[in-house]
Amino acid sequence: MIYYFSGTGNSKHAAEVIASAVNETPVDIVDAIKNGIHGSADDEITGFVFPVYFWGLPEIIKRFAAMPEVNNSLGKYVFCVITCGADTGNADKMLSKKLGRSPDYSFSLKMPDNYVVMYDPCEKEKAQKYLHHADKELETICKDILNRENARKGSTNGSAKSAFVSLLYDPFRKTKKFYADESCVSCGLCAKICPDNAIEIKNGKPVWVKSKCQHCTACINRCPKASIQYGKGTQTRRRYNYENTVD
Ligand SMILES: Cc1cc2nc3c(=O)[nH]c(=O)nc-3n(C[C@H](O)[C@H](O)[C@H](O)COP(=O)(O)O)c2cc1C
Ligand code: SF4
Ligand code: SF4
Repeated sequence: MIYYFSGTGNSKHAAEVIASAVNETPVDIVDAIKNGIHGSADDEITGFVFPVYFWGLPEIIKRFAAMPEVNNSLGKYVFCVITCGADTGNADKMLSKKLGRSPDYSFSLKMPDNYVVMYDPCEKEKAQKYLHHADKELETICKDILNRENARKGSTNGSAKSAFVSLLYDPFRKTKKFYADESCVSCGLCAKICPDNAIEIKNGKPVWVKSKCQHCTACINRCPKASIQYGKGTQTRRRYNYENTVD
């Protein structure tokens, strides 16, 4: 079983490539929480693929990895691939604590940065170069997993500061600065794709109905009209998502 969480498609792509190479099924964690966890301790492999947030774990990963149904159904070989814009700090070690065991293999996989609420995502050609490099790294990752390698690879810079920086995630993941501007065409996609059910369409426009969310950036980066803003900073910034970058 290969579990993944993904806001803008990087981790989903990585999970799909790995799952296909090792003949496993990629399972969206949002669906697994909704529909039940069907892994078993007899499984050959259990994998976790997700983005790093503030050198730590997304809230949904903290919750999922600590669930007894997940803990009790870890397979014989456990790995994690944590996607990032630069480094993952100690996120793999934080996952170990939640799972109650260390993954046999962990890899910090550099992919384009999607945190548009804080930074301007890079231009498309540069993002394509990062994705090309990530695909090369994924070839190594697949071979390592097939060989049941025991290793910690990729950029774990930030390890020393990780515990402190990861505390910033919770205060940052507020929704009150999200809004849709006048370019919104009321397509409803943002509400449909939000993994937290934090968006509802009211009078044709999205409304953020929870005070906190994952801050996965799916809504703001995947809106087809780039209508979603976060405070004042995002009006002049690019948007990033995997699907629109590989075309
Ligand atoms: C809330 C948030 C925090 C992030 N924090 C980090 C970080 O600490 N270090 C880093 O290298 N990238 C960081 N990123 C970038 C993402 O981890 C990276 O773009 C990831 O590949 C996105 O995966 P996805 O497309 O599967 O959602 C952050 C992104 C978000 C949305
Ligand atoms: S995805 Fe964009 S255009 Fe569609 S409803 Fe949401 S904000 Fe409006
Ligand atoms: S509101 Fe937007 S950023 Fe927050 S969890 Fe939903 S899709 Fe992600």
